[in-house]
Amino acid sequence: MKIPLSSRLRACCDLIKKGERVADIGCDHGYLGIYLLKNGIASAVIASDINECPLQSAVRNSEKFGVRDKMTFCLSNGVENIPRDFDTLVCAGMGADTMISILSSAPWLKDGQYRLILQCQSKTPMLRRYLSENGWYIRQEQVLQDGKFLYTVMEVVYNPSPLLTPAQCYFPPTLVENDCFSAYYRWVIKGLETIVLNRKDLADTFEAKALADLRKKET
Ligand SMILES: C[S@@+](CC[C@H](N)C(=O)[O-])C[C@H]1O[C@@H](n2cnc3c(N)ncnc32)[C@H](O)[C@@H]1O
Repeated sequence: MKIPLSSRLRACCDLIKKGERVADIGCDHGYLGIYLLKNGIASAVIASDINECPLQSAVRNSEKFGVRDKMTFCLSNGVENIPRDFDTLVCAGMGADTMISILSSAPWLKDGQYRLILQCQSKTPMLRRYLSENGWYIRQEQVLQDGKFLYTVMEVVYNPSPLLTPAQCYFPPTLVENDCFSAYYRWVIKGLETIVLNRKDLADTFEAKALADLRKKET
């Protein structure tokens, strides 16, 4: 039986090291954790979700794929109720606002022992800005395509570093220029232009500064 894992979640799994204990926050169907266990990548998985329904579906799927005994299931808003004995936290398929709220409510994640794998669905530059302003460092980030859509997945560690500039919040220095990068670049610039050009009152904002810097670089 094949685990129905999206390319998006597969890209997150590719950043997990062998033997790590993983906490999947917002696990929904639980397939990320199930894949990591079935393929001998993670040694244990905490699967958590804020809603009972998805969590129950993750429990059922873990039974179906025979990994129930290696998974801990938690009904939790973010990391509020989860055990802290894990190495890497995965947060995938959520927008920046939710991720920021999860990270802000858990300063203990900054004690140096945790890695984060984040795959943000919307407002990714805002998430990068938050990370940078709060001592989190994006060690690497990759663009990937899943169906018609482009996403990025990032590996983040606590390591206070020089702040990202507005332009770097759109294209961080550690974003890998892989096969999907040019399409991502064009898509992000187009979105940024729409925001800036349609709103004259945004002349001196974060978005406008980012666009001006990026245009300077292009010339
Ligand atoms: C769009 S699904 C993504 C599922 C899976 N991680 C993926 O990427 O395919 C988002 C999931 O996150 C859960 N969720 C939303 N806010 C959450 C929060 N604050 N804490 C934990 N789970 C949350 C939702 O219930 C839902 O199951």
